[in-house]
Amino acid sequence: MAKEIIRVEDLKRDFVVGDETVHALRGLSFSIYEGEFVTIMGTSGSGKSTLLNILGCLDTPSVGEYYLDGVSVRTMDKNSRATLRNRKIGFIFQSYNLLAKTTAVENVELPLMYNPTVSSKERHERAIKALQDVGLGDRLNHNSNQMSGGQQQRVAIARALVNEPVIILADEATGNLDTRTSFEILTLLQRMHKDENRTIIFVTHNQEIADFSSRNIVIRDGRIKEDTYNKNIRSAKEVLEGLPKEN
Ligand SMILES: Nc1ncnc2c1ncn2[C@@H]1O[C@H](COP(=O)(O)OP(=O)(O)OP(=O)(O)O)[C@@H](O)[C@H]1O
Ligand SMILES: [Mg+2]
Repeated sequence: MAKEIIRVEDLKRDFVVGDETVHALRGLSFSIYEGEFVTIMGTSGSGKSTLLNILGCLDTPSVGEYYLDGVSVRTMDKNSRATLRNRKIGFIFQSYNLLAKTTAVENVELPLMYNPTVSSKERHERAIKALQDVGLGDRLNHNSNQMSGGQQQRVAIARALVNEPVIILADEATGNLDTRTSFEILTLLQRMHKDENRTIIFVTHNQEIADFSSRNIVIRDGRIKEDTYNKNIRSAKEVLEGLPKEN
């Protein structure tokens, strides 16, 4: 039996704006196990980012429980939550969120800065290794603004992985990329899922991407509408190889 990485129970999140309350999440319960590649889909405003922010310990629910790797996040104070986030979670955002005028290596080293058990030498070596793993061994000292969108997103993936997180969270990670580059990123995530048994949660409103994940959760209006397993996972690598070289 695979290890339970995430468990949420009756998760609700209200936002109070003026006299109005927005019920962004209206009671979600599910578990995610080690080695799952879960896509979370839903139309704009359905609550996907709200959910991902809670799973990423960037936000706390109004009601409900969240256990990350067996730890109840609700009972933690802000500092412990920040540490938990830094150690257990790797984030990939639509807009890459890299530091400008900073090299690829420095960007990837960043999450390790807060880890006192990692020396500066080890930090540097691990960053280089992570960049090589995503195919950027020849761009180590390029600044963010000297790279293409796809390369920047690969730096962001290396940064998400360098701390060996228990889970990788992605919010529209291919949203800004062209078809070919999107499939390159998807191929990379599938490799991590299949070969390294990584646990990935990928939020998107692009329904096609569900074909490439092992499980798809559809959210509508703050509730789970569907939760299905995919027995026929399509290979992003095969799609990539079938695409015309120039796009
Ligand atoms: N900080 C906030 N304050 C007030 N309302 C918010 C806040 N964040 C989100 N909401 C509201 O909660 C609902 C869910 O928003 P959320 O960002 O989770 O949607 P989403 O599914 O990620 O949409 P998209 O696909 O457009 O990114 C929306 O109605 C939104 O307006
Ligand atoms: Mg969103």
